[in-house]
Amino acid sequence: SAQLNELAKAAGKLYFGTATDNPELSNSTYISILDDTREFGQLTPSNGMKPSPGVFNYTPGSIVANLATKNRQILRCHNLVWYSQLAPWVTTTTWTAASLTRALVQHITHEVSHWRSQCYAWDVVNEALNDDGSYRNNTFLQILGPEYLKIAFAAAAAADPAARLYYNDYNIEYAGPKARAAREKIVGFLQDAGIRIDGVGLESHFLVGETPSLEDQVENMQSFVRMGVDVAITELDVRMLNPPDEASLAQQTKDYQAAVGACLQVPRCVGITVWDFYDPFSWIPGTFPGYGSADLYFPDFTKHPAYYGVMDVLKND
Ligand code: G3I
Repeated sequence: SAQLNELAKAAGKLYFGTATDNPELSNSTYISILDDTREFGQLTPSNGMKPSPGVFNYTPGSIVANLATKNRQILRCHNLVWYSQLAPWVTTTTWTAASLTRALVQHITHEVSHWRSQCYAWDVVNEALNDDGSYRNNTFLQILGPEYLKIAFAAAAAADPAARLYYNDYNIEYAGPKARAAREKIVGFLQDAGIRIDGVGLESHFLVGETPSLEDQVENMQSFVRMGVDVAITELDVRMLNPPDEASLAQQTKDYQAAVGACLQVPRCVGITVWDFYDPFSWIPGTFPGYGSADLYFPDFTKHPAYYGVMDVLKND
């Protein structure tokens, strides 16, 4: 029977995909699902392309990229500029605007050139906003102001004319000050300067029962699309308190369906990526103690009710 990616493509999307991480690639059952393009037509390295201290280390990223090439899966490349996990020297160096611009451009040019022709999309800038809609404080903002956004997107555009260039963030999946800021202080800000931005990634890390409704997600996606950019669901998961019970799993099914269903209703929502598909490899328990079961496959590789719920939504489109 048809699986997630096959159904998503039949419904007009480019892909249904998943994040994956290098240490996970020794689990043969996991790999057999990851490799199955009927299930996943797109991969995102969840950590493998993040910068490592002071060096360009392409090995972890290339393992995931090569897997995608071998399987003919679309690759979303993640990410170029982020406040988190910065190489230590970025925060300890005393920068001038000129020296930081050079370092930023050099980093982006190296990375994007290295992966050129392999990345369907790049998350160029990740999580540059606070929930109140102000620019998030980071070294780049301190030294360069919001201009760093222009420098980053312009450098990425120059290094790969074909890759779709995205701004990626969480809590911008519904109307509010942060989504508005993503439109005005990121998308509009770049467009006004004549700098290319092709898409907005809606991370979609949701909490069971508190997921925005399908209608709200559709309306929000359209608010970006009206600006002339694509949207994508880039990091979908729905966490719950452990242990999972029947009621939470039923609610989780509705929550997954709201997100996937919203993307189906918006032609320029290009695809859906889950932030890994197997509960033991989820980032949730490490960050939200007591929470988990956020993915589509249980530890024994049986599927969550949400998996079947997502299939139903994809089928009925
Ligand atoms: O590689 C080291 C390892 O050497 C060390 O022994 C171990 C001990 O803590 O840490 C390992 O690094 C961890 C890394 O993942 C690789 O596994 C970091 O501690 C851990 O903080 C890091 O977490 C990742 C997080 O981003 C921070 O980069 C998660 O796996 C990853 O899922 C998460 O992904 C982010 C997206 O990039 C952006 N959006 C939100 C999303 C979830 O936080």
